[in-house]
Formats: sequence, structure tokens, C-alpha cells
Amino acid sequence: MQYAEITGWGKCLPPAILTNEDIAKHVDTSDEWITSRTGIKERRISHVGTAELAALAAKRAIAAAGIDPTEIELVALATSTPDMLVPNSASKVQNLIGAKNAAAVDMNSACTGFLYALQSATAQVRMGAVKKAVVIGAERMSWFVNWSQRESAVLFGDGAGAVVIEATDKPLGLLNAKLGCDSEARDILQVQGFGTEIDRYDNPAAALNIQFIGKEIFKRAVRGMGQGANTVMEQANIKASDINLLVPHQANLRIIAALQKQFELSDEQVMVNIHNYGNTSAATVAIALCEAVENGRIKPGDNIMTAAFGAGLTWGAGYIKWGDRITPVNTCDDSLPASDKSALELLSNAMTYCLNKA
Ligand code: ACO
Repeated sequence: MQYAEITGWGKCLPPAILTNEDIAKHVDTSDEWITSRTGIKERRISHVGTAELAALAAKRAIAAAGIDPTEIELVALATSTPDMLVPNSASKVQNLIGAKNAAAVDMNSACTGFLYALQSATAQVRMGAVKKAVVIGAERMSWFVNWSQRESAVLFGDGAGAVVIEATDKPLGLLNAKLGCDSEARDILQVQGFGTEIDRYDNPAAALNIQFIGKEIFKRAVRGMGQGANTVMEQANIKASDINLLVPHQANLRIIAALQKQFELSDEQVMVNIHNYGNTSAATVAIALCEAVENGRIKPGDNIMTAAFGAGLTWGAGYIKWGDRITPVNTCDDSLPASDKSALELLSNAMTYCLNKA
């Protein structure tokens, strides 16, 4: 029997930090509201496109695995903010990291994307189609934000996380997963203003806009992630008390707290970093997983549960069995191209445009 062990992990957070106070200078909101309703204190704003964020996270994961990029046979990139639609962003990542022997695919399941991509890449390894793959969640969510809408302006951030998976005969890696889609509610979370639904000649300058019904998403998120995790625990024949670390999608601290309560987990059993990065959509689980290893929150042989939900409304959960190694084989010294701009400077045009149009 073939499995797909996670052997490398990496993340890329662009340097410019946008604090709640920064946003409150331009948008009718406050640090108090954002912190108490979401748990977010700050988020990162990228000066480069999604593929560059993804490529650096992937390079770091490949270094941590101690392999050569030419050994990678699949680049699976989960994103809903690609650099362009055609060609896909995974092909740019393949090129930037020198994985010239790899197939390259973008996958869009919004915030659940990394879990969908990890499940799909794991299945390819387990069926023997590829031996080594890099799976990435990367987003430049700041590009979608309408800064005149305080409901969404405070929630999102940019960043990327990646893992390398490798074929092994030991039962490690993503062992069980349950993915689903609550499509009756697909209208309650949308980015409007893009796609072939639009008559682009009739409406050539349709503005992109994230629209959502937060309270309804909140309820369905807790239900979807809870159901997913329960199904996965049943499949894996484990109990909530066997989970060493829950790595959930970071959309709202109160949603994470509801899951924690449902499964009676202690704070030590739940990975939370939403305060630093906000909601980076498909990247949250990948970044949190990477940070958990880096910070010593994952021990050899740990049982890890992930759970996520996103537009669609896609949802899912996965049970990961960690291997023996929790230290990187190598490190990668590459960095993003330098930028001396603050987050507010990077966003200045976008904010002026959105606020003038409002
Ligand atoms: N600053 C100040 N006040 C605000 C802000 C803001 N940024 N945003 C909304 N408000 C106001 C509203 O206008 C409203 O005012 P009113 O009572 O005078 O009408 C009040 O705050 C409450 O608004 P709600 O939308 O009811 O606030 P809620 O507690 O539901 O929090 C939130 C909103 C954070 C979006 C929450 O519903 C949530 O986390 N939902 C699930 C996650 C989600 O939807 N994320 C976005 C999609 S991405 C994803 O991960 C799937």
C-alpha cells in the first residue's frame, strides 16, 4: 500500500503589514470591532503576484524536504486569485522553482482549496501516478477587496504556504479526507464582476466585489467543518481526544472557538494565527500547518486534523499522520524582491479608487 508523507513545509508572507489601526484611518471601523468580532489584528499586503508568493513557499518546502525541484512531478496550486486565467499560475510556479519535470494545475475551491489540492495530490501519489508533489495554497486577496465596504475590507490578507508530499509505504500523510459542497448556498459568498456570466461589452468595467452574508456563512462553516471532521474521525477510527493538533481554516476566531468547543479541545490542541495574517483563503491551512511545525506545535507521529470551508460553499476535513521528522533537511535563502513601501502605500491607488467611487 502506498501513502503520501508530508516531508517538507514552507511559507511566504509578504513583509508589508496592514494593522487594524491603518484600516481605521480610511474605513469606518475600529480595532475594537475587528478584534472582538474576528480575532484579526493585522494582515500582510503583497507587492508581488500570487505565483511569486506561491513559488517562494514551494522553494522553502522543497528545501525542507531536502530534494531537488526536478524530482517534483506535480505542482498543485490552490488559489482563487491567480496572476492570470490563461496560462495558469501553477505553470509560472513550475518555471520559477525549476520543477521542469512536473505537471502544473491550478485548483479553485476558494478557502477549502488547499485541502482539495492536498487530497487530490495525495490520491495521485497513492495510485502511483507521481512520487513527489508540491501542494501550495497561495492568495493575493487584497486584490479583490473593495475598500469602501468595511464588512470585507477588514478580513483578508495575502500569503502562501506549501508542503511537499512523497510516496512511502508507511501509513503517513493525509490518510482520510471528507470533502463536500453546500451548493444551495453558493450565492451567499461571491466575487462579483468577473467571468463569462458577464456581458463584457455591455458592462466593460464591471468592478470586482466580494459579497457575502457573514452570519449565514458562519453557521454553515461550523456545521460543514464539524460534519467533515466527524466523518473523517469515523473513517480513521479515532476520537477527538486522539487529535494532537487541529489546524482549521482561519476565517474568524469565533468559528475556530466553536469547533474547539464542539470537539472539547484545549488551546494547545488548536492552531490559531488569524491575529497575524487575517483570512488568506486557500493559504490559511497551509501557512498554519507550516507555522505549527516551525513553532514546535507538531511532534513526531502526531495526529493532525484539518478543517476548512469556503465559497461554493465548499467544505472539508482531513486527518494527517505526521512522520518522524519535524526539522527541515535544508533551508532556502531566497526572498521576495525588495520593496520599501508600507501596506498603506501599496494600497493607496486601490483605496482612493474605491472610496471615490462609493
Ligand atoms: N467595522 C465596524 N462595524 C462593522 C464592520 C466593520 N468592519 N463590519 C460590519 N460592521 C457592523 C455592521 O454594519 C452591523 O452594524 P448594525 O448592527 O448597526 O447593522 C454590525 O457591525 C454587525 O454586523 P454583522 O455582519 O452582523 O457582524 P458579525 O458579528 O456577523 O461579523 C463577520 C461579521 C466577521 C463577517 C462574521 O459574520 C463572520 O466571520 N462570518 C463567517 C466568515 C465569513 O463570512 N468570512 C468572509 C467570507 S470568506 C470565508 O472564509 C468563507
